[in-house]
Amino acid sequence: MNEMTNSHLLVQEFEYEEPSTIAEVVALLTQYGDKARVLAGGTDLLVQMKIERVRPQMLVSLGKVPGLSKIEAQEDGLHIGARTSIRAIRFAPEVRLNYHALAEACASFSTTQIQFMGTIGGNLCNASPASDCAPALIVLGAQLGLAGPNGERRVPVEDFFSGPGKTVLQKGELLVSIIVPPRFAHPWTGSAFLKTSRVVADIAKANAAVMLERDGERITGCRLAFGSVAPTPLRARRAEALLTSQVFHHDLVMQAAQIASEEISPIDDVRSTAWYRREIVKVMTHDGLYRAWERAGGQESGRVRERESGGWLDASASAIHSGGNGHEPREIEPVARSIHLDSRFPRREIALTINGTKYRLSVATNDLLLNVIRENLELTGAKYGCGIGECCSCTVQMNGKPVLSCLVLAISADGSEIVTVEGLQKPTGELDPLQESFIEYAAAQCGYCTPGILMTAKSLLNENPSPTEDEVRDYLKGNLCRCTGYASIVRAVMARP
Ligand SMILES: Cc1cc2nc3c(=O)[nH]c(=O)nc-3n(C[C@H](O)[C@H](O)[C@H](O)COP(=O)(O)OP(=O)(O)OC[C@H]3O[C@@H](n4cnc5c(N)ncnc54)[C@H](O)[C@@H]3O)c2cc1C
Ligand code: FES
Ligand code: FES
Repeated sequence: MNEMTNSHLLVQEFEYEEPSTIAEVVALLTQYGDKARVLAGGTDLLVQMKIERVRPQMLVSLGKVPGLSKIEAQEDGLHIGARTSIRAIRFAPEVRLNYHALAEACASFSTTQIQFMGTIGGNLCNASPASDCAPALIVLGAQLGLAGPNGERRVPVEDFFSGPGKTVLQKGELLVSIIVPPRFAHPWTGSAFLKTSRVVADIAKANAAVMLERDGERITGCRLAFGSVAPTPLRARRAEALLTSQVFHHDLVMQAAQIASEEISPIDDVRSTAWYRREIVKVMTHDGLYRAWERAGGQESGRVRERESGGWLDASASAIHSGGNGHEPREIEPVARSIHLDSRFPRREIALTINGTKYRLSVATNDLLLNVIRENLELTGAKYGCGIGECCSCTVQMNGKPVLSCLVLAISADGSEIVTVEGLQKPTGELDPLQESFIEYAAAQCGYCTPGILMTAKSLLNENPSPTEDEVRDYLKGNLCRCTGYASIVRAVMARP
């Protein structure tokens, strides 16, 4: 029987653990072997489980392990915890100041929601050839700290990938930290990251990272790495050898671009053609070399280029004050859902605060936050669109951050504060000023997308009450509209009193 499904519901059943130490994670991974998967942000793993490409028996969440979301400067370099979000790295001052390639890779990454949910460790361990963090970390010479049954070891990031979706992680091992050497903070060192994709919030057709060290007009050190153009992220060593010890010159740059395009082994796929990938790698090598060269000369230092905006946000979203609506805590009887009728796994009790009201709920391990909100609590504002992270119509705020509730396990949300579109309205029935603005500017274009758009825009305004148009467009870039467009929406957000 063909058990594949494309319903994008999470029909698989699995056990779920939330250990509180790395040693406990290692013990579970050792016990279950390849039947277990680590769960970080879930933006890759839950999609793969929904389309039934992977079927783990055990999910080991990193959510309760302390110390995995830190960015810390130490003697041997910048230590980034494996569970640090892409968004936190994008806006970390140390990263923006000294490690431009990494900051730019994180800025280029998908949607606002995926940036908040996705982690750097998940990005590397997923081992996609199109990973945005991998080429940046390769040129920055990063090492990966792995913990396993035999203790800790370090692996250079460029040796970590062994094929599409494959890494050198051994049974029982997990990625704990990423260590970026301090020498890239040297004033005569510059790095850059570039990406070409079909639309702005998408996985790369091709990406490129460049690092240059210079002494006067001479290149004294060089690294080039590319993604989405080979089975694993790839270093272009022949082009590097050509550039190293040479005087920086246009002809040299053009030659290096040509050689780099010959070193890759791209394929035709849904996102691009092999021919286009070879051509664009030439362009990206040229542009990346010039940009890194300027930075190594002290120009543009401290300024990270982002495709859409100047980078004004603080990494941590400010907390949302959802304000209780006066309801007393109550228990909700779980509503039977057809896909769980024969659940082999016990249900667990979780506590959620939703729109200021506290709930205790019994959920199965494969219940998604979106289903619980819509079916158990009958708050139907958040919508099920694509189910795999691509439309953002299911956006709600979780602990003040916009998340895709179709990719959050309800069990992982235990203890969280959730705000849905229903929570924007005051208990007296008054609409939020943002909702009023949407009405005034005719931005409530359809009932399907508007709740997600409102929740994303509300998160933006909580972080930055006076965004520019570019900032609004960047923040909302993942919330799809296929009817009218974004002009009225952007106007309504900017005009919000
Ligand atoms: C709509 C959409 C757009 C996307 N756009 C981009 C993009 O532009 N660029 C890009 O690079 N990626 C993109 N991705 C992919 C994904 O968001 C990133 O790879 C993200 O960083 C994954 O992190 P996560 O924490 O969500 O990983 P998870 O889904 O939690 O985990 C991914 C894999 O890594 C394993 N894992 C996670 N953490 C560890 C650890 N510490 N040790 C061992 N194993 C671990 C998991 O078991 C799983 O196999 C996109 C995904 C979606 C759904
Ligand atoms: S992103 Fe969640 S339903 Fe589309
Ligand atoms: S707002 Fe829903 S399709 Fe345009």
